[in-house]
Amino acid sequence: MITLNNIFKFYNHKSQKAYILKDINITIGEGEFISIMGPSGAGKSTLLNIIGLLDEANEGEYHFFDEKMTSLKEKKRVEYHRNFMGFIFQAYHLIDEMTVAENIETSLVYKGVKCKERQAIVADILDRFSIVGKKDLFPAQLSGGQQQLVGIARAIAAKPKLLLADEPTGNLHSEQGRMIMNLLKELNDEGTTIIQVTHNEEFANYGKRIIRLKDGRVEKESVEAIL
Ligand SMILES: Nc1ncnc2c1ncn2[C@@H]1O[C@H](COP(=O)(O)OP(=O)(O)O)[C@@H](O)[C@H]1O
Ligand SMILES: [Mg+2]
Repeated sequence: MITLNNIFKFYNHKSQKAYILKDINITIGEGEFISIMGPSGAGKSTLLNIIGLLDEANEGEYHFFDEKMTSLKEKKRVEYHRNFMGFIFQAYHLIDEMTVAENIETSLVYKGVKCKERQAIVADILDRFSIVGKKDLFPAQLSGGQQQLVGIARAIAAKPKLLLADEPTGNLHSEQGRMIMNLLKELNDEGTTIIQVTHNEEFANYGKRIIRLKDGRVEKESVEAIL
């Protein structure tokens, strides 16, 4: 599904190149659940953003299925992002002025789903996440865990092939964090490919494979199944 070959990312800093990602080579198959770990500043978010087409590598090749992402035109890139990818952020990134239901609906609007169908999908998701009673509330009226539930609901409403989560439990209590992780596991069991960034060893183990980044390089990979 995802092939990253010799990916480099740098920023120009005082006429010098500051490398954030160095020679990243990763292959991820459909249906995998990957955890990316590593110290702050290791390049985890940058890597996730490149995979999610929110950022671009300076060197190397990125293939998503058979399509080369590294030379896509901006318009195509946005299309791929909207049609195939769902993003969950640590800080939820919900729209304050929109209700829970409207927030969830946004990803479907971007994808061009018709109004009637949108409402049916949103109703299903509210039901599945047991937040029907919250649908007309605004983000500020919810707890952190509930806001993140809405963030996930929004991310999966459009049925993305790939779900990318950047420290999705970073702002949550461990109990709420576990609830979110169990939800991710359920989605993965249903076939969604998931890549999460986490600092939490317990939550990292929800993934079937852990990729550790350090100073922009892949440090070591551990495959649980081999143990
Ligand atoms: N737009 C940018 N310009 C310059 N440096 C950046 C930019 N974005 C990120 N960085 C740097 O890249 C490094 C990796 O960032 P990031 O991918 O956010 O790390 P992580 O998510 O692992 O904490 C950090 O040192 C950060 O300061
Ligand atoms: Mg980060």
